[in-house]
Amino acid sequence: MHIDPLEKKWIAISLAVVGLFVAIITLDALFHGINPPSKVETIDSASLHLNTEFAEDKLGVQTDAQGVITVRMVAGRYSFFPKHITVPAETPLTFRWVSMDVLHGVHIPMTNMSTMIVPGYVAEITTTFPKPGEYPLLCNEYCGLGHNHMWSNISVIAKEDWQASVKSPAQGEQK
Ligand code: CUA
Repeated sequence: MHIDPLEKKWIAISLAVVGLFVAIITLDALFHGINPPSKVETIDSASLHLNTEFAEDKLGVQTDAQGVITVRMVAGRYSFFPKHITVPAETPLTFRWVSMDVLHGVHIPMTNMSTMIVPGYVAEITTTFPKPGEYPLLCNEYCGLGHNHMWSNISVIAKEDWQASVKSPAQGEQK
């Protein structure tokens, strides 16, 4: 079979481009922790309020006996609940999200965190905030007319301040 030299050149270029993209994805996954969520955990979106994990009084930041921090949030048109949370910097945080209605997304600028929140599934991501500050938590999947008003705020405080505040039991903060 005859392949024109010019055609060969373009085949090589296109394979190199594919190879480059695969390399970027692999390096991101290895060094920046950017991965697609692989956990498949189902939940009944219609009865979240009856669910033991995502009942209203369970939402927000929870620290277990070992000091492991889990943040539970519900996304619904057009807000994330709770609207405001406070977490420590430089500490691994496991976020668990569910949607009460339609498809939402969540993105926190300056972190590796971006995921879809698919109704019927629990979206879980573990991330760390490198430094204290005020971070927005934005919906990044078009979910209706109020989509661009859908956000929450995260106050990230220094690790030492957090450890001082952990002495008091009320960490799930709601505004
Ligand atoms: Cu929720 Cu867009």
